[in-house]
Amino acid sequence: MDDGRDEDTNADRAATEERRTEALDVLRSNRAEGYTIPSATLYPFQWNWDSAFIALGLAGVEPAAAKEEVESLCAATWESGLLPHIVFHTDAEGYFPGPEEWGVDVEETATSGITQPPMVVPAVRRIYEETGDDGFLDRVYPALERHLEWWVRERSFDTSVVYVRHPWETGMDDSPAWTDPLAAFDPGEVVYEREDRKSDELADQRPTDWDYDRYVSLVREARAVDWDEFDLRESCPFLVEDALTNAIFVRACDDFAALAAARGDDTAATTWREQAEQSREAIRDRLWDEELGTFVSYDRVGDRKLEANSVAGLASVFGEIPTKQQFERLRRTLRDDLLAYEFAVPSYVGDAFDPDRYWRGPVWINTNWLVADGLRRYGSADLADRIDRDSRRLVEREGFFEYFNPETGEGRGSDRFSWSAALYLELTDSA
Ligand code: SER
Repeated sequence: MDDGRDEDTNADRAATEERRTEALDVLRSNRAEGYTIPSATLYPFQWNWDSAFIALGLAGVEPAAAKEEVESLCAATWESGLLPHIVFHTDAEGYFPGPEEWGVDVEETATSGITQPPMVVPAVRRIYEETGDDGFLDRVYPALERHLEWWVRERSFDTSVVYVRHPWETGMDDSPAWTDPLAAFDPGEVVYEREDRKSDELADQRPTDWDYDRYVSLVREARAVDWDEFDLRESCPFLVEDALTNAIFVRACDDFAALAAARGDDTAATTWREQAEQSREAIRDRLWDEELGTFVSYDRVGDRKLEANSVAGLASVFGEIPTKQQFERLRRTLRDDLLAYEFAVPSYVGDAFDPDRYWRGPVWINTNWLVADGLRRYGSADLADRIDRDSRRLVEREGFFEYFNPETGEGRGSDRFSWSAALYLELTDSA
């Protein structure tokens, strides 16, 4: 008998293969010398957590490029252990704030003066498990350790919960969660030009001038004290214990412990496993919001919870932070609030929801990936599959956009965006 289903499956497979080829093409065309830019139109340098997601996606298909990606990022680690959020390998024009604005060099390469969530550690674990390359691990291990130690020493009030001092550090730049702490200070007169604010096509999909004034003033104030973290702990008007950064930090500690164990360093493995556990306990206590049924962020300057229902809270599962009881509640929040949209998972739901604007509603492929990975750790494969399916559906329909409208699925921001391509490869790895 004719089996129509087999034919469908073959057609689906062929379509997936075609998309995978396109994904590799995006990554290759965005690749520079040893690293990949996030997008040719908006982000012409190396970005920290972008590189980590790109390396993760490349691990299964081009492991040599994945290793190079991570090694070039790690080479920019400051002596203190800060891993910058941008590495300016070239002096491309047109991006603000560029190298002159930050005024920092590491071994003659300009960098920014803030960081991003330490996704690089889970990426290294993925590459190491794929390749078993001990030489690679030896080369990046010291930078990763220095970086994690830096978070504990310089970015935590209690050596447990870590904080950020700029919305860009969270990766979720204009999340409505940051509105109150940003509104609490006056940025003064700041003069600058941003390409995405000048573009008619993008202006409605990006952070506003109100946000950018504050982003720029935070950079200038930190530069004025020469990026001294202990000084900034006293003077910076934005100090936030972000739910997403903490989830990734905890997972990074666990993954680093696994890497330490693989190198036979049991002492380091125990230290980082204990750090992860200590941080988890403190996060469960401080960042859980029973009413919203999710994890939120904490404003250390205003001494208050920042009550926003965002994908950051859900991503807590990536660090195995929720207790069993918290997870049951979180799952209800996911089902009732976040899966109510045609496409999972909106970056935010609530009064400030905007389906087209950056981190105020759109779906992002990287946060979908984090949440699905975490849900599987809690045995919720059905929900994880739904999220993975939506990520694939969005990319297959629209292309490798930076983010997507959760109601209509339309692609937003930049096209040919590297981490959307890389994570598509990871999602369809065994297809
Ligand atoms: N995401 C910010 C930008 O648009 C900073 O990393 O440049």
